[in-house]
This record gives sequence, structure tokens and C-alpha cells, in this order.
Amino acid sequence: MTTIFVPREVTPGETRVAATPETIKRLIKLGYAVVVEAGAGAASATPDADYTAAGATVEPGSRDAWGKADIILKVQPPMQHEALGAHEVDLMKQGALLIGFVWSVLAPELSQRLRDRGVSVIAMEAIPRISRAQKHDALSSQANLAGYKAVLMGADALKRIMPMLVTAAGTIKPARVVVMGAGVAGLQAIATAKRLGAVVEATDVRPAVKEQVESLGAKFIDVPEARAEGEGGYAKELTKEQLERQRQVVAEHLVLADMIITTALIPGRKAPVLVPADVVKRMRPGSVIVDLAVQQGGNCELSEPGETVVREGVTIIGALNVPALVATDASAVYARNLLAVVQDLTDKKAAPGTVKLNLEDEVIEKSLIIHAGEVRHAPTREAVAALGQPAAASS
Ligand code: NAI
Repeated sequence: MTTIFVPREVTPGETRVAATPETIKRLIKLGYAVVVEAGAGAASATPDADYTAAGATVEPGSRDAWGKADIILKVQPPMQHEALGAHEVDLMKQGALLIGFVWSVLAPELSQRLRDRGVSVIAMEAIPRISRAQKHDALSSQANLAGYKAVLMGADALKRIMPMLVTAAGTIKPARVVVMGAGVAGLQAIATAKRLGAVVEATDVRPAVKEQVESLGAKFIDVPEARAEGEGGYAKELTKEQLERQRQVVAEHLVLADMIITTALIPGRKAPVLVPADVVKRMRPGSVIVDLAVQQGGNCELSEPGETVVREGVTIIGALNVPALVATDASAVYARNLLAVVQDLTDKKAAPGTVKLNLEDEVIEKSLIIHAGEVRHAPTREAVAALGQPAAASS
């Protein structure tokens, strides 16, 4: 019988878990045996007893549990497991299938290690953003929640309230919020800021999102000279001149904002700097910037990864793992994304719980980045190959 293992995440600060009682019931229905490490759901408020009630076997994390697993469902990339005294990759058996975020291009050593171990990897960051894969799309499910939480974090740090309030002591004006980048995280940030009563403006280089922004009740800051619709609904990188023009136009809105939420991203690129230091300097003291793109270098010049800093009187929040702050819901949707992947992998014509890596399925084809001792994903392959280059080769 194919065994699925759900370990407790050991990455510091990670509170999410890769399966929930709801998804475990479905995995068992598909014919799998599910083993959950004791305490795996504790940080997302799911007790072991709920996993047992769903039909999973709950057992302490051990080399044995890792070594027996055919499929491992994870949130964070494998890392050194201090308690077990080994790297998680080395705990996996040859031929096991890992499904989770790997960030394989950014972590070539890890990709190489997975390849050399003979493990197959479905990387959740490599799931294509196509209509059929919406239910598999963990980047979107997590960005959606991050967009929501970013506004709450910003509101909490703000020294003002969000809605307009008419009081006996006079009227309080609503807060002004500007959202930069109206993709998945940005649209949810707009909706959340609106629900809290703020006056919201948003900007994006894809003119197609204007309608979506407006339908949420926000104003679209259009910069006709800085439009860059790319392939597959993604943005293209702006030229230096376009970026400069965009900065000029948007700056006038930014300096009036009480809160800026930045989410601008072009896949595979460093985040564009949209809030330079001189704009921060012109903002009102007490304003707040939440930079969700901080991991890709940041949309704000002054943000620092994992830190909240105050610069020129402006609080700049560079939170790295925002979905982990809403671990119960983030785990629920992430676990459903993984379930969708496992459903696709399950050969319905064979005995229950039989895995078939069907490469004719576009979702599997694109996300199966390592298989049978080979790195299949070209950008990861290049990153791994670059590891082997002697330093002299690049000089
Ligand atoms: P997305 O691709 O759906 O949206 C990004 C948007 O930025 C697109 O609409 C794109 O057109 C726009 N954009 C690109 N260049 C721009 C520019 N120069 N000016 C204005 N808009 C521009 O991406 P998604 O999923 O919404 O993620 C957004 C960001 O949030 C990413 O950097 C992602 O890594 C980050 N994120 C951070 C989390 C955290 O915990 N800090 C959690 C989840 C997502």
C-alpha cells in the first residue's frame, strides 16, 4: 500500500501543515495509508486526535516514519532535521515522491541533493498558472491570504483608524491606502482595505486589471506609459524609462497614503523598486508600508527581510512568511492544493492508491522538476549545473 507521510515542519517560524483532517479523509478514500507526525498540526490548531479521527496513523517523528514513506507532503523545503540528526532529504528513501515548496532554482544545492538521493519532486512553486490548475495553485492560495493579512498588519501598526467615523467630537477621515501590484495578493489587499473602510487606490502595469480593481471599489492609478502585459497573464519587466515614469506618477499618490501595500512581482525577476527612499522621506510620519515582495528584494528600497523598521517616521514591515500568521486557513487551502495534485497522480484504473506520473498532464509535466535521477526543470538544471563550475570559469 502506498504510504503518505506528513511530517511536522521544522523550519523556524513555520506554523502550517501540509494535510488537514479534511484532506486526509479524501487521501484515504483514494486508497492511501496516511501517517502524520505527532504534533504536526499543533501550530495550526489541529490536534493529533483530529488526525486520528480522520483515519491517519499518528506517530512520533522518526527515521523509520520518513524512511517508509512513498509520498511526503510538506510545506517548506527539506532542511537539516536537528532532532533526528540528519538532513530531511537523507531521511527519504530512494524513489520517494516529495510534494511541497522547494524553491529549486534558488536552492540548487538542495535540488542536487534531491536528485542524487533518487527522490522525485513535485514543486508547488512550479505548478503552472493555468485555468485547470487553479485548485492546485498554492502560490495563489497563499498569496491571497497574505494579501488579507498584510492589510491587518498594516492597520495594526498604523496610528490611525481605517474607516471614516462621524463622532460627537467631529469627523475622522478614512485612511488612504495604495496597493502596488494588483495580482492575487494585491486584489485581496484591496478588498480587505475596502472592507475596513479605507479609501483605496491601486496600480499595476497590466491594464487588464483596471476593471477588477474598480469592481472592488478602488481607484486605478493608470500610467499609460508604463504598461507591460506579458505572457500567460503575467507582467513584463518595465524598461528603465517606463519604471521612472511610473515612479513619478505613482509617487504623488504614495506621499498622500497612510498605508502602502506592495505586491509587485514579475516571475523569476528581482522585485521592481517602486517606493524609493525619497518617497518614504516625503510620506507623513506614522504611515505604514507592508512590503510583501521583500523576499524577492522588496518593492520598497528601505524594507528589510523579516524585519519591521522605522525610517523617516514611516513603519516598514518586511514580513517573510505571512501565510504562517494565519496558519489554520493557510494550511486548509494549501492541503487542498496538495490533495488536487495527489488526485491527479492517482491512477484511477489501477488498484486504489496507485501513483502514475502522467507526463501528458500539463500540471504534472511542469511541476515534476526532479525524477529518476534527473533534473527535468530547465532553470533548476542550469542552477545545479552552475554549482559544478569552478570559480575560475566565471572570472
Ligand atoms: P501576482 O503575479 O499574482 O501579482 C503580482 C502583480 O504585480 C501582477 O499583477 C503584476 O502585473 C504586478 N506588477 C509587476 N510589475 C509591476 C510594477 N512595476 N508596478 C506595478 N505592478 C507590477 O503575484 P502574487 O501571487 O500576488 O504575489 C505578489 C507578491 O507577494 C510576490 O512577491 C510574492 O512572493 C509575495 N508574497 C509574499 C508573501 C509573504 O509572506 N511575504 C506570501 C505570499 C506572496
